[in-house]
Order: sequence, then C-alpha cells, then structure tokens
Amino acid sequence: MNEKKVLFTIFGGTGDLAQRKLYPSLFRLYRKGDLVESFAVIGTARRPWSDETYRNIIKETIASLDPTEEEADAFASHFYYQSHDVQDTEHYDTLKKLADELDEKYDLEGNRLFYLAMSPNFFGTIVSHLKSQGMLDSKGYHRVIIEKPFGTDYETASQLNEEITQVFQEEEIYRIDHYLGKEMVQNISAIRFANSIFESLWSNRYIDNIQINIAEDLGVEERGGYYDQSGALKDMVQNHILQVLSLLAMEPPVAFSDKEIRAEKIKALEAVRVYTAEEVAKNFVRAQYGPGSMEGQDYTAYKEELNVDPNSSTETFVAGKFIIDNFRWSGVPFYVRTGKRLTEKGTRINIVFKQVPVNVFKDSVGGSCEQKQLSPNVLTIYIQPTEGFSLSLNGKEVGQGFNMLPIRLEHRNSAEIIENTPEAYEKLMLDSLNGDGTNFTHWKEVAQSWHIVDVIRQTWDQDPSELPQYSARSMGPKEAYELLEKDGFEWIWAPDEWYRKRDLLS
Ligand code: NDP
Ligand code: BG6
Repeated sequence: MNEKKVLFTIFGGTGDLAQRKLYPSLFRLYRKGDLVESFAVIGTARRPWSDETYRNIIKETIASLDPTEEEADAFASHFYYQSHDVQDTEHYDTLKKLADELDEKYDLEGNRLFYLAMSPNFFGTIVSHLKSQGMLDSKGYHRVIIEKPFGTDYETASQLNEEITQVFQEEEIYRIDHYLGKEMVQNISAIRFANSIFESLWSNRYIDNIQINIAEDLGVEERGGYYDQSGALKDMVQNHILQVLSLLAMEPPVAFSDKEIRAEKIKALEAVRVYTAEEVAKNFVRAQYGPGSMEGQDYTAYKEELNVDPNSSTETFVAGKFIIDNFRWSGVPFYVRTGKRLTEKGTRINIVFKQVPVNVFKDSVGGSCEQKQLSPNVLTIYIQPTEGFSLSLNGKEVGQGFNMLPIRLEHRNSAEIIENTPEAYEKLMLDSLNGDGTNFTHWKEVAQSWHIVDVIRQTWDQDPSELPQYSARSMGPKEAYELLEKDGFEWIWAPDEWYRKRDLLS
C-alpha cells in the first residue's frame, strides 16, 4: 500500500465526466489503498449544492461498484462542495480558505491536484486565478490535469498552452488522452520491446502496411451539440489515433521513462508527413452516416440526431493514409479509419507483414492452382471491447497435396481479467498522483498533431463537394475501400467472430 496525500479540486464537479468517470475511479483507488485517510476532494461548479447533496451524488456514482454502506459513507465523507463560477475571482478566495482547512484537517502536506473537467474555454481563466489567488502557495506539489480537446486547431491550442504554462511547468501539466490509459494501448510497448521476434521485424523491411481502426457502433447520442462543431477528425484522429500511431512508429526508447518515451513519440510525430491540399484529397476520405438498419433495427441519419444541424456537413467518419518520412517507415502506409455508427465496436491494430518473396507452393502437385498468393501474416492487437493479440500464419491443410491455410495463434484476456482491469481514468489518475507523465501528451505532441490535422481540415473546409454518406451500421463509404485498393491492399478489420460467438455484440 502506498498511500497518497493529496487534495483534489475538480472543476466541473457536477458534470458528466466527473460523475461517470472520475468519482468511480477515485473510489477504486480508495478501495485499493492508494487513497486512505489523507485525501480530500473539493468539487466545484455553479449549481448550489450542499456538501450533503454532493456526498449523496458521490454515493450514487459508485453504487455500481457495490460498496458497503460504511465504505460508501467513509469515502463520501472526504468530499466537499463549493458553489463557484470560475469567472468570479472572489470564489477562489473561498476555495483557497477551504483548501487550507482541508490541508490541515487531513494532513495533505500541501499537495494539490487540479482537474479541469469542464469546457476548455475556461481553462485559461481557472489557471490564472489559481495563481493570482494563492491556491498554489501551499508547500507541496501542484499539478493540473486537463481534459480534451486541447484547442480546436494549432492556433487555439498554442494560445491555451501559453496561458497554462504561465502558471504550470510542462512537467506539472497532465494532458489527458484516455486512450493512453487503455491496457492494450500500453501493451503496444510490451509487444514491441519485450519480444525480439517483433522488434526485429518492425520496419519497412518486413512490414507492408499498418492499419488502425477505431470503430464505434454508437451514434453521437446526446453529444450532438459538441460533436457537430468537432467532427471525427478532431474528435478522434488528432488525439487518439495519432497517439496510437506514435506508439507504433516510435524508435525504441533508451529507458522506459516518461522523458524518453515522450521524446521518441515526438520524433515519430514530427516524421509524419504534413500533407499538401492535393495529398489530402488523394489520401483522406470523410463521410457522414445516413439512415441504416441492422438485425431488424432501424437507425436514423446523423442529420436527424438531437442538437445536430439538419444541414450539417460534419464528418462522422474518416479514413486516411499517413506517411512517415524516416528510415524505418519510408514506404509503409499507416491506414487509419474511425467513425460513428459502424458495424460494431472494435478498436484494433493490424500489422500486415510482407509476403514471402516467392510462393513455392503455387505449382505444387495437388496444390490449388488459384492459390498464387498466400495470405499475409498479420499481427492483430485487440484494444477493445476484447483485449488480446492474434498472429495469423500460413499452415498446410491436413490431407493430400499442399494447400495452404491461414492459421491463427490467438490470445484474449478472459472476461474476468477484463472486468478487473483498471479503467483508463483510474490508471491515469494514479499516474498523475505518482508524478508519472508517460501516459499523458506532451505539448510538442499536441502541437505536431494539430499541424498534421489542420491541413486536412482546411482542405476539406474549402471543398464545396457533397460529403459521401454511408449507411448506419456499415463500415463506411466505398471511397474508404478504394483508398487501400488503389495501393493493392485491403482492410483487414472484420466483425469479431470471437466476440460475436459469445453474444457480446452490443
Ligand atoms: P458537462 O457539460 O457535463 O459538465 C460541465 C461542468 O462545468 C459542469 O459541472 C458545470 O456545472 C460546470 N460549469 C459550466 N460552466 C461553469 C462556470 N461558469 N463556472 C463553474 N462551473 C461551470 O461536461 P463533461 O463533463 O461532459 O465534459 C467536461 C470536459 O471533459 C470537457 O472538456 C469535455 O470535452 C471533456 N470530456 C468529456 C467526456 C465525457 O465522457 N463526458 C469524454 C472526454 C472528454 P454547473 O452547470 O453546475 O455550473
Ligand atoms: C472520446 C470521443 O474522446 O472518445 C468520443 O470524444 C468517443 O466521441 C470516445 O466516443 C471513444 O472512447 P472509447 O474509450 O469508447 O473508445
């Protein structure tokens, strides 16, 4: 047990993220003994809640984790609510007074972690008030966790970063990308750097192409207002997809530390080609979901979703090809695809290896004459909803002759393991308490990701042509298939039979 002493101040304490993710994660840390007695949480937002109301809400948010009544009461007793408009300077004085009292009451040694779980428009105001009103005068550490989106383009991100770095040092800033907290995303480094068979093959000498798919079956649900201003490119590609890509593409770090890993990720992102408008048109496809049906259920079109402009031209789907201009990856396309209302939820990476130089079996006696090409070897990393890896190989079909058959070596984590896997937010909160920035994005990563994505956005914004549509619960428009076909490849992603057979398809 390694008890942390800390005061959390959660801005946006009444919001969706706080209630769905942050409070349950704090409770799991409490249960595991990372938080014991010396911690306190101030939740703040405008709603005029009392401490009692707040504590009852906290207990509701952790109910699904089945705490005993005593456990829930003891945990909730560490929570305090402060009604506060973040634009109002006076409130920071009240906040400071409460923070100082709690510091003493719980023996927190002046350690303060500020979680900005609200609209990014307020981040600048909050951090400047934290400094000017003395919230950072305590003797311990001061760290800030910042939610996505970090800006809406390079310009706004840079401005936001400027505001934050006037108050916090880079190593005190924890920019969340919850994909970096996922078990199998963290496993990318294990696969690469703990297995000589893979690391020795990890380059353009043996790899044909890499595919990253983040498929979601859900539509925009109740987030239409936000999403219609954002679209899939900014919502998923700028952050989650480019982060996964950087972990796949980076050079081996000299040590597994936040400094070394982030330095390698930055270099990888800097090698991703920033396209010209012509290259964007050739290498990126966007689309929007129209109506569709699957297994007897009908789905409405994006334009009919709540809080979405009926004439919206926001993309709910992106497919594209990234090119990395360095020695390791020259000539290896990184194909990415993400969208809402796709066939099923399935985040997967496929590493497609090159074919053997000659298929010696193609004319073998008894072999199939049509079998001119063998199936490629593919390493698949299943990120969610199932977690695991598979490696597809070619083997001989049992019996006469010499027909080749694809064989799959497969490992999936059991349902029990998945159930007990710490949730991304839990891991990331613990990392930030430990002062470990490995799984957070450095400013230079954010900046480079915006440079890459901004030209795509600008090219699309200047393109008056009609957005392609795809049927809800399909895998996107035909243009996304053509993107690979013209390079002589195809998407490896297919509905997950393992998942389907166990009736786990949502
Ligand atoms: P919500 O709209 O649910 O919450 C916003 C919070 O901000 C509320 O607590 C609201 O409380 C508070 N608030 C708004 N204006 C003020 C103000 N002037 N002064 C003080 N408090 C204010 O948003 P989410 O929780 O969904 O999102 C929060 C952040 O997390 C955003 O940056 C979002 O992009 C990000 N995020 C959210 C995810 C999610 O799953 N929800 C996933 C990934 C990122 P009140 O009205 O009481 O003031
Ligand atoms: C969020 C996006 O960052 O990631 C959402 O804003 C998306 O639109 C979500 O649904 C996907 O996260 P996960 O963990 O479900 O893959």
